[in-house]
Amino acid sequence: MAGLFRRKTIVEQPPEHRLARTLSWPHLVALGVGAIVGTGILTLIGVGADRAGPAVLLSFVVAGAICAAAALCYAEMATMIPASGSAYTYSYATLGEVIAWVVGWSLILEYSLVVATVAVGWSGYAVGFLHGLGADLPCALTHGPVFAGRVCDHAVTATEYGVNLPAVFIIAVVAGLLMLGTRESARINTALVVLKIVTLALFVAVALPHFNAANLHPFAPLGYGSAAGAGGVKYGMMGAAAIIFFAFYGFDAISTAAEETKRPERDLAIGIVGSMLACTAIYMIVAAAAVGALHFSRFSNSPEPLALILREIGQGGVATIVAAAAAIALPTVILGFLYGQSRIFLVMARDGFLPAGLAKLSSRGTPARITAVTAMVVAVLAALTPLDVIASLANAGTLCAFVAVALCVLVSRRRDPAAKRPFRTPLVWLVAPIAILGCLYLFTSLQSITQLWFLIWNAIGLLIYFLYARRRASIA
Ligand code: ALA
Repeated sequence: MAGLFRRKTIVEQPPEHRLARTLSWPHLVALGVGAIVGTGILTLIGVGADRAGPAVLLSFVVAGAICAAAALCYAEMATMIPASGSAYTYSYATLGEVIAWVVGWSLILEYSLVVATVAVGWSGYAVGFLHGLGADLPCALTHGPVFAGRVCDHAVTATEYGVNLPAVFIIAVVAGLLMLGTRESARINTALVVLKIVTLALFVAVALPHFNAANLHPFAPLGYGSAAGAGGVKYGMMGAAAIIFFAFYGFDAISTAAEETKRPERDLAIGIVGSMLACTAIYMIVAAAAVGALHFSRFSNSPEPLALILREIGQGGVATIVAAAAAIALPTVILGFLYGQSRIFLVMARDGFLPAGLAKLSSRGTPARITAVTAMVVAVLAALTPLDVIASLANAGTLCAFVAVALCVLVSRRRDPAAKRPFRTPLVWLVAPIAILGCLYLFTSLQSITQLWFLIWNAIGLLIYFLYARRRASIA
């Protein structure tokens, strides 16, 4: 039993396995904002409005507050243990092997499903854009399995199968960029992040003058809690918060860059807390502009709510610009998460849980093999997976990681109060429990089918751990 909770001492890697230190805090803030601002604010705001009405504004506040508490805990652990691997590494060093395995397994779920979700979201924009140019791809090559709703301008009567080729394409492009080099990726990422922020600023500048307080009534037509409705979907302000949570994470991807950061003890805290605060401010303004400009019932569940709002208020030209810019900039989320996933796999391979050959670095100092393998797995998911539940399943994995990191902070403060902590979570005995309880509550507000899939995923993970990984652990 003791072996299950053995803890790992984090040591510096030998040169042949060490990643090149090329990043400083502006890169990290850009990496964070690039990974955070994406499908959540561009698309899921519509789903949130459908589930909560104008009270989706409060859903943003709740999800943002819980993420801010988690971000402060991440900043403490990331600066204390500046090694790749994020929540997995902190758990291995603090809570023990089996918990680290569950956290690592949940992170795989989070990162791969976010990459797949955003790639499929991007595909939707790209296909629409090509359609506008008169260049239509064969329908079956533009989507994965679709069970209901509409696809390629017709209603789905029986399940339609297909392969989402544009989603595979965008993952291949981003993976190629990451294999080229971390610094090159960071530069392009920064340019696209600026484009993304300018696009949202443009939306706010055009939509805000149309703010009409009447659009905020009734404010919470489905209540402030989370109550199950049709198909087990949770409605109400908290039900929406459990989905809107998707919009806020991504700052955790910064912690996976610890080994490539020049001054991790300072830059990681600035990167994590800075990008989180910046995004919370941006979201509050965008969400208020959206809900105030058009009654929620007219844009809820739209695949492109911000563009729709602009069209409805007579700004069709701006809507096209916003949609095109969104398609150009959305890959930064894919970049942030694919980057994070390859680093987590890398650390798990170093720890003996995955084949060691995968951890080999290319001549450019990047984990090229593992990036390629990760991209292939995620591309298959993006090509063939229906989107219905994957965003909330990604949320489930993230919530698990956030709980683990907040627990790590509390346990390490208790066990090792004198340890060097370049960043200390303020009011830790209040902030960390807020993160833990908030995340657990959001988990209970997810659809029950999502909770079930999450448990199945971890049951499979534990089986692999006991039958295979445990014996191969490098500290065994
Ligand atoms: N926060 C990221 C997004 O909204 C995952 O796309």
